[in-house]
Amino acid sequence: MGDFTVLGLETSCDETAAAVVRGSPPGPGTILSNVVLSQLQEHTPFGGVVPEIAARAHVEALDSIVEAAIAEAAVQPADIDAVAATAGPGLIGGVMVGLTTAKALALAWDKPLIAVNHLEAHALTARLTAGIGFPYLLLLISGGHCQLLAVDGVGQYRLYGSTIDDAVGEAFDKAAKLLDLPYPGGPNIEALAREGNLKAFALPRPMLGREGADFSFSGLKTALRQVVRSSDMNEASRADLAASFQAAVIACLVDRVTAAMNMFRRDFADTVCPMFVVSGGVAANSAIRAALTERAHGRGFAISLPPPALCTDNAAMVAWTGLERLQGGLLDDMSVSPRARWPLYRQAIAETPQ
Ligand code: KG4
Ligand code: ZN
Repeated sequence: MGDFTVLGLETSCDETAAAVVRGSPPGPGTILSNVVLSQLQEHTPFGGVVPEIAARAHVEALDSIVEAAIAEAAVQPADIDAVAATAGPGLIGGVMVGLTTAKALALAWDKPLIAVNHLEAHALTARLTAGIGFPYLLLLISGGHCQLLAVDGVGQYRLYGSTIDDAVGEAFDKAAKLLDLPYPGGPNIEALAREGNLKAFALPRPMLGREGADFSFSGLKTALRQVVRSSDMNEASRADLAASFQAAVIACLVDRVTAAMNMFRRDFADTVCPMFVVSGGVAANSAIRAALTERAHGRGFAISLPPPALCTDNAAMVAWTGLERLQGGLLDDMSVSPRARWPLYRQAIAETPQ
């Protein structure tokens, strides 16, 4: 089968991104360009992403980011087979900007339009980067999501577990606030944790050993708040607390992943060498990567971890997902609408009311 070339746009949170990817499923694909503009500076003073500011920044930046992605890829519109954009879930203002721009480009160039689920884009990244075949067990850990799923094909997802309260990235971001670290919390906690003693504070490990593969992180956050309020924090104890927090998160992730590995083995008993994939922004964390790698190997799973820059939000994963859907004939028409909520395991747009 011939290769496809797809332009992808990503605007669902605080990154304005465009990328051109070439290839064919199952991958790996070639990233011809991958331009990401972070709005970090605009949001940092507010300690989190401000939707209005994000939407305006996407409007201002997107056209030139798209131009840069096309120029860097050295392609002409004629070389592009489809235009894909994140259509949700995410901050609705930003999603509208990206999807509307994609519609305009698809109309102007007379190309198919593909409305991409942002979570599916994270879920399929390991095919773009490593050509991983179906099925695989996926841990999706980002700012808004924390799920364990079996991925059995494009649009074929079976949910094993999800968070009953905060997403793991959200837990990192809230913990960072309590520790007076700037947004986004994940990378800052990871850096501070390197200097601390992970055994210094005994923090809870919610859901450990529970049946199923669900997560919970709000109790951990509450415990952290109590420590911060009740003790005199200094530089060293802040680092200890960051390290202890990260260790508790890792213990929870490893336990829940182990439970999901058992479910995956039960459901896909014929799979000789089962594959475990981790994706989403939190998968950029090197301590988490190391712990999950160790557990995967201990349980006879191969593991695929996309490079950190492709774990956090980017448009290459959106272009790749567009490419997979294009190959499967899963196109959208101009009436497709942006959506703030769009769960992965109920894929079809038609099934999901706004
Ligand atoms: O996937 P992503 O870029 O955006 C969403 O779709 O949510 O994930 C962003 C989340 C943020 O909560 C951020 O704190 C977290 O990923 N994150 C990390 C690290 N890098 C980003 N969490 C822990 N350690 C990191 N190194
Ligand atoms: Zn994301």
